Amino acid sequence: MKQLTVGVVGAGYWGPNLIRNFYENEQVELKYVCDLLPDKLAGIARRYPTVKTTTNYQDMLDDPALDAIVIATPVRTHFRLAQQALSANKHVLVEKPMCMSSGECQVLVDLADARRRILMVDHTFAYHGAIRRIKEVIDAGELGEILYFDSVRINLGLFQSDANVIWDLAPHDLSIMDHLLRQTPKVVHATGACHAGNGFEDIAYITLTFADNLIAHFNVSWLSPVKVRQMLIGGTKKMIAYDELTPMEKIRIYDKGISVTEPQSVQSSYVNLISYRIGDMHAPVFDLTEALKTEVAHFVDCALHGKQPMTDGRSGLRIVRILEAANASLKSGQPQEINLEQPAPTVVPQDFGIKVG
Ligand SMILES: NC(=O)c1ccc[n+]([C@@H]2O[C@H](COP(=O)([O-])OP(=O)(O)OC[C@H]3O[C@@H](n4cnc5c(N)ncnc54)[C@H](O)[C@@H]3O)[C@@H](O)[C@H]2O)c1
Repeated sequence: MKQLTVGVVGAGYWGPNLIRNFYENEQVELKYVCDLLPDKLAGIARRYPTVKTTTNYQDMLDDPALDAIVIATPVRTHFRLAQQALSANKHVLVEKPMCMSSGECQVLVDLADARRRILMVDHTFAYHGAIRRIKEVIDAGELGEILYFDSVRINLGLFQSDANVIWDLAPHDLSIMDHLLRQTPKVVHATGACHAGNGFEDIAYITLTFADNLIAHFNVSWLSPVKVRQMLIGGTKKMIAYDELTPMEKIRIYDKGISVTEPQSVQSSYVNLISYRIGDMHAPVFDLTEALKTEVAHFVDCALHGKQPMTDGRSGLRIVRILEAANASLKSGQPQEINLEQPAPTVVPQDFGIKVG
């Protein structure tokens, strides 16, 4: 069986989930794990004795037998590490959000194209069984024309030291929306507030409007006493309610909606024009395979067979552009227009002074 030789950089909180899934994939030889901190590597070496551990990223770049590098380090390091990996002709799977700016994302997209390497972003939820099931329902036209997308991701969250709640939490919901609807927003409006005195908003509300009448809203917060992970998607025919945390019936599809009829006479009141449809609800089952296992298999397949990843560099770029526009709106208090069909201006990125090995 064809094998992909892989190295993972970053063995902090999230990296070990990727390490486990790459290690367990039959088509992968997990050759390296790299981290700046030796104690992180000691734990990995105990658990996976066949894997080489290193604090020097250059070891992975210099190994001609290494096909792919998986980047699970903090966001500010993604660009440099991915740029070096692609320049060394490695396929790349990089954590979300893809980079700190759309300019950096565009540089990586262009580099991957030039080198004919796979560049994929870990938008994990796109590979989750529930989201895949919802996508099937939407793609089959069961909901009709999509009217709105409404998402809540709130809890008493871990305040980040280098990012606001939008950059921390919204990439998940924006990437779910991007994956499910495949429609590009035209205007982004965000409001939020910072309560911790560190300049980073801990509560935010983002509204996206589209060319037609579609509207999307995202509520993200680190300051909620309860944890909520809910999504509503409304269509002209049916509507979906998805609750990630409920133990049963996480996806509910409601045959509910409204019909608007033309008034029969000028005397008819507006209320008479709306009729309600209240039909059945059904709760479809979905594949319970761990999302990362599905995602790792997809990355391996793309790298071995030259296929386009579902969450490729361009999808990572789209999400970062929406995050940037949301941030600009937060700071200015004004809605921001966005044109995702235009390429992002490539930048010569500043040297962040990041130690890479
Ligand atoms: N997909 C998801 O659901 C999900 C969930 C959590 C985090 N993440 C993402 O994963 C990434 C890492 O987050 P985390 O919470 O694991 O961070 P973390 O700080 O816990 O771990 C990062 C690790 O990277 C190491 N590191 C940093 N710079 C390095 C370098 N130059 N070379 C080698 N090692 C280096 C650090 O020593 C640390 O062990 C972030 O991009 C985050 O957004 C994704």
